[in-house]
Amino acid sequence: MWPKNGMETAKAPYFTGKGPDGGTVVLYLEDCLEGVAGLPPSSVEVVVTSPPYNIGVAYHSHNDRMPREDYLAWLGKVGQQVGRVLADDGSFFLNVGGIPSDPWIPLDVAQELRKLFVLQNAIHWVKSIAINKADVGNYPNITGDIAVGHYKPITSGRFLNDCHEYIFHFTKTGSVPLDRLAVGVPYQDKSNIGRWQSARDDRRCRGNTWFIPYQTIRDRSSQRPHPSSFPVGLPEMCIKLHGVGRTKTVLDPFVGIGSTAVACLRLGVSCIGFDTDPEYLRIAAERVRSQPGDGGRERLPQVPPYDSAQGRLEKGDAGPDLR
Ligand SMILES: C[S@@+](CC[C@H](N)C(=O)[O-])C[C@H]1O[C@@H](n2cnc3c(N)ncnc32)[C@H](O)[C@@H]1O
Repeated sequence: MWPKNGMETAKAPYFTGKGPDGGTVVLYLEDCLEGVAGLPPSSVEVVVTSPPYNIGVAYHSHNDRMPREDYLAWLGKVGQQVGRVLADDGSFFLNVGGIPSDPWIPLDVAQELRKLFVLQNAIHWVKSIAINKADVGNYPNITGDIAVGHYKPITSGRFLNDCHEYIFHFTKTGSVPLDRLAVGVPYQDKSNIGRWQSARDDRRCRGNTWFIPYQTIRDRSSQRPHPSSFPVGLPEMCIKLHGVGRTKTVLDPFVGIGSTAVACLRLGVSCIGFDTDPEYLRIAAERVRSQPGDGGRERLPQVPPYDSAQGRLEKGDAGPDLR
């Protein structure tokens, strides 16, 4: 009944959809450890994901307050499965952030995965930045002091607002070729164009600070119905950096409301995603269906109704003991 594309796990998918450019989306309501273990070895070129940060978010079934060692050991197991299904020249982009009262989380996670992968690039996802006109000098497009982007403000006498997260780019060898100019930026000083062999066009490497703001929203529950989603632009940039032409299938083991799936459809590549939360997957399916494509097919799971009134800690909240 469900379309076979060689990427099915033992379980029937929750949702399958097809984009206009041939990319398929297959979403599973399944624990990613079990689900990814069912995928064939070396079957995906890119993994983009953001796991739970273990900061006390009230997920539907996941316990987001594990002892740190258990949390790291769990992500280590996920990393082992990711390493098994990732192609030898594949890229594993892992987005992790901390909270002001515990900024070591992403660094501890990176240390755990260092046992399995080479850290080829450490990218900083900048959510908000302030630039003083006086610091940049005579840039034609900057006419005054600017502060752009969004973050969740905290009240604290000792912690700064957290305006960034990491995107760790892990590979198996540390020498996976990248399409840097696919996420490049125009030269500010146009006299650089043609100056070097590598500067034939008006495009240079963006570097490892990526400003990807959340969209401005008016109603959180309808417009950002997940406590810790990333903007679609984040997986989109990761896949482009790896190289769209070298990517057939992207895996997101913690797919949430499907931001990676939407990015894949936009780029015409296939996506396989797992999540244990039926409400998030329902929204993911809705988002995929709203993209151009075949409209998708959904299998509704038999689960108790979702309690959206639960208190949730958001990415960027400070955590306990602020002052
Ligand atoms: C940080 S969120 C990912 C959000 C996603 N990047 C997005 O933009 O929607 C982590 C997700 O992992 C899911 N999750 C927790 N434990 C899981 C598990 N064992 N297997 C699969 N998903 C899990 C949670 O339900 C949550 O949606």
